[in-house]
Amino acid sequence: MQGVLREQFLLQERKKEMAIRKIREIGDEVLGKKCKAVTEMTPRIRELIQDMLDTLYEANGVGLAAPQVGILKQVVVIDTTGEDPYILINPKIVESSGEQTGMEGCLSVPGKQGQVTRPNYVKVVALDMDMKEFELEGTELLARAICHETDHLQGHLYVEKVQGPLKDINMDEDDEEEA
Ligand code: NI
Repeated sequence: MQGVLREQFLLQERKKEMAIRKIREIGDEVLGKKCKAVTEMTPRIRELIQDMLDTLYEANGVGLAAPQVGILKQVVVIDTTGEDPYILINPKIVESSGEQTGMEGCLSVPGKQGQVTRPNYVKVVALDMDMKEFELEGTELLARAICHETDHLQGHLYVEKVQGPLKDINMDEDDEEEA
């Protein structure tokens, strides 16, 4: 096949391969548990990461942690732009500074948002898909997402840190970012 037809075919094939996992919601006990470190890259972990990315993009989220799909492993995917995902295995925040206060949401707490104060800068050390250590620095939304997702790995949800009431998301302004 050529040109547009071939592109359509490839897109359909890709969709067939996509595996969207069910996102666990607040009240599910798996979200309150601590995750275990990943000790080796296996086909199962690779599949988990690919499925987490598929699930993240399908849900238009900014980040997703493995316990949100029911897996108690220290794996996080974050994409603040929609086209440049970070995969963080066994992430550890090693530096943080500054402060930002803003609205935060979570794919496991659908339809809600709340005000949370986070560091404005964090540095995280993690392993990549080849189990090689790397550092990632983030400010603003990326820093917020790194904090939010690493909290998930410790069994914590942002709702524990909300200042003031948890609010309903106005669906008319459905551009809120959820992690
Ligand atoms: Ni979340």
